[in-house]
Amino acid sequence: MKTPLTLVDVLLLLALFCISPWVAGSSSSYCKLTNTGEIRPHSVSITDFGAVGDGVTLNTKAFQNAIFYLNSFADKGGAKLFVPAGRWLTGSFDLISHLTLWLDKDAVILGSTISDDWPIIKPLPSYGRGRELPGERHRSLIYGCNLTNVVITGENGTIDGQGSIWWDWFHSKTLNYTRPHLVEIMNSTNVVISNLTFKNSPFWTLHPVYCSKVLVQNVTILAPSDSPNTDGIDPDSSSEVCIEDCYISTGDDLISIKSGWDEYGVEYARPSTNITIRRLTGQTTSAGIAIGSEMSGGVSEILVENILFFNSNMGIRIKTSPGRGGYVRNVYISNVSLIDVNVAIRFTGKYGEHPDSGYNPNALPTVERITIKHVSGENIKTAGVLEGIEGDDFHNICLANITLNVSSMHQWNCSHVQGFSDFVSPKTCHSLRERIFPQHISDCYLPPNFIAQMSSTWTDFIGMSIALPDESSKS
Ligand SMILES: *[C@@H]1O[C@H](CO)[C@@H](O)[C@H](O)[C@H]1NC(C)=O
Ligand SMILES: *[C@@H]1O[C@H](CO)[C@@H](O)[C@H](O)[C@H]1NC(C)=O
Ligand SMILES: *[C@@H]1O[C@H](CO)[C@@H](O)[C@H](O)[C@H]1NC(C)=O
Ligand SMILES: *[C@@H]1O[C@H](CO)[C@@H](O)[C@H](O)[C@H]1NC(C)=O
Ligand SMILES: *[C@@H]1O[C@H](CO)[C@@H](O)[C@H](O)[C@H]1NC(C)=O
Ligand SMILES: *[C@@H]1O[C@H](CO)[C@@H](O)[C@H](O)[C@H]1NC(C)=O
Ligand SMILES: *[C@@H]1O[C@H](CO)[C@@H](O)[C@H](O)[C@H]1NC(C)=O
Ligand SMILES: *[C@@H]1O[C@H](CO)[C@@H](O)[C@H](O)[C@H]1NC(C)=O
Ligand SMILES: *[C@@H]1O[C@H](CO)[C@@H](O)[C@H](O)[C@H]1NC(C)=O
Ligand SMILES: *[C@@H]1O[C@H](CO)[C@@H](O)[C@H](O)[C@H]1NC(C)=O
Ligand SMILES: *[C@@H]1O[C@H](CO)[C@@H](O)[C@H](O)[C@H]1NC(C)=O
Repeated sequence: MKTPLTLVDVLLLLALFCISPWVAGSSSSYCKLTNTGEIRPHSVSITDFGAVGDGVTLNTKAFQNAIFYLNSFADKGGAKLFVPAGRWLTGSFDLISHLTLWLDKDAVILGSTISDDWPIIKPLPSYGRGRELPGERHRSLIYGCNLTNVVITGENGTIDGQGSIWWDWFHSKTLNYTRPHLVEIMNSTNVVISNLTFKNSPFWTLHPVYCSKVLVQNVTILAPSDSPNTDGIDPDSSSEVCIEDCYISTGDDLISIKSGWDEYGVEYARPSTNITIRRLTGQTTSAGIAIGSEMSGGVSEILVENILFFNSNMGIRIKTSPGRGGYVRNVYISNVSLIDVNVAIRFTGKYGEHPDSGYNPNALPTVERITIKHVSGENIKTAGVLEGIEGDDFHNICLANITLNVSSMHQWNCSHVQGFSDFVSPKTCHSLRERIFPQHISDCYLPPNFIAQMSSTWTDFIGMSIALPDESSKS
């Protein structure tokens, strides 16, 4: 070894190489911040407001009236709206603070197939227009704005957007406005979405935007693999978001972290930060975990652990473009299993797609301090396509302990990326081949609390220290 080991080296090395289950949780306290088990002192059933669960009767008024009534309990500990077994067709409705929407085991909320039942609302300020069409957009089936302490949960009941009609309108180009989400919660705090199944969203499924303290736990999200833009969960300009124990199978990214679009996102300047994603399983025709392409308000402090993607196009994806501005930094992804995936890791620096011609082409995004480690892949076509931006290298990209069974000749293809790696097979691109250990450990992102918690696994390190000098001496 050229450089002698110091105690700090040793501890940092341990941090880089050990899968450390005890780190999870302690480094994301916001996974526990929200009050999920709260008993609401008041409860009504949707049937008390004349709803009919026959799958045919439109119940929008019943939902609106029930929620209007429950508003009077907001300052008395809040209330619960119970949705019993049945098929409850409805148009878009609005939630209130201190409300629990509770779906019984065989309860299904069905989205209306008439577009007028999904009213038109203003575009998001950080997008400047609807995401797929200029101008306004349809409001989500379940909507909430300026709320606190709102819970959407139950005994694995289902919220089904019946999105196929929207996918048809999309394909036939007969939409007048951007398609609605299934659930959008805006500008709110203390939000829990748990123990439910979400199906067939017209567009992105769960969209927390300008929110903080959001817990999404134990949900199933399903949409056909050929349904357009049916992302699973899109935390957007939101902080302290925890997504755990979910299964997602859709026609677009399973989770995509965003923060606004080009000049509108830059001006609104609301980042997505402090986001934890763990114990996620799923499959997709796009990526399992994505960041961007809308990231103009910045994305940082992202922790992703214990994920499994199978039968998918891409595993991990960062997408951006000149014109976006903003940054993606301090991302830590660990313990990823990939089975039957085309491209394990993909960075795209020229994604394109701009809201209008008013974007600044010189607004280059910063992508830095991305750590990806403990990745195993079976039947992977291409290990990585890492494409940065000319004159704006993505840098301090750190790859460690990645073993992919790659079937194609083109294993890694990199341009305009710089970083470090240890124990990556097949061998990564030249621009990432410099070793992490020991000189570049501090150039690589590790989540806070990592180092503080090392001492209990000293013996784990001993195993690694025996394995390492061999490799190190080659550098
Ligand atoms: C949210 O609050 C802002 C500021 O008070 C207000 O302008 C806006 O209309 C509110 N939005 C909704 C949907 O209530
Ligand atoms: C997940 O949801 C199911 C169905 O509602 C429930 O039985 C199970 O206990 C939940 N698991 C967790 C970890 O909350
Ligand atoms: C909830 O229901 C969905 C289908 O409706 C099912 O796939 C899933 O396994 C169920 N989740 C739990 C935790 O029971
Ligand atoms: C778009 O607008 C036209 C004209 O008002 C209307 O006939 C059509 O139904 C609308 N399309 C959708 C999907 O709402
Ligand atoms: C969000 O809420 C704050 C007050 O809490 C308000 O000033 C702001 O206008 C709201 N923003 C939106 C987009 O509704
Ligand atoms: C999900 O359901 C399980 C089983 O009923 C319950 O223990 C848990 O608290 C629920 N989780 C949330 C976040 O609502
Ligand atoms: C993010 O987490 C850090 C560390 O816990 C905390 O200091 C910071 O205030 C958080 N930021 C936001 C916006 O939640
Ligand atoms: C790694 O993730 C898998 C799920 O893909 C999980 O079963 C396993 O327990 C995780 N390993 C550790 C050490 O947390
Ligand atoms: C390397 O990653 C694999 C998972 O892909 C894990 O099982 C193994 O423990 C990791 N090795 C070390 C030294 O942490
Ligand atoms: C990849 O998997 C195949 C089938 O399991 C196996 O025969 C082959 O040896 C593996 N290749 C590598 C490089 O591990
Ligand atoms: C690498 O990517 C570039 C641009 O995407 C492409 O032109 C080139 O053919 C690729 N090279 C290999 C070996 O796949």
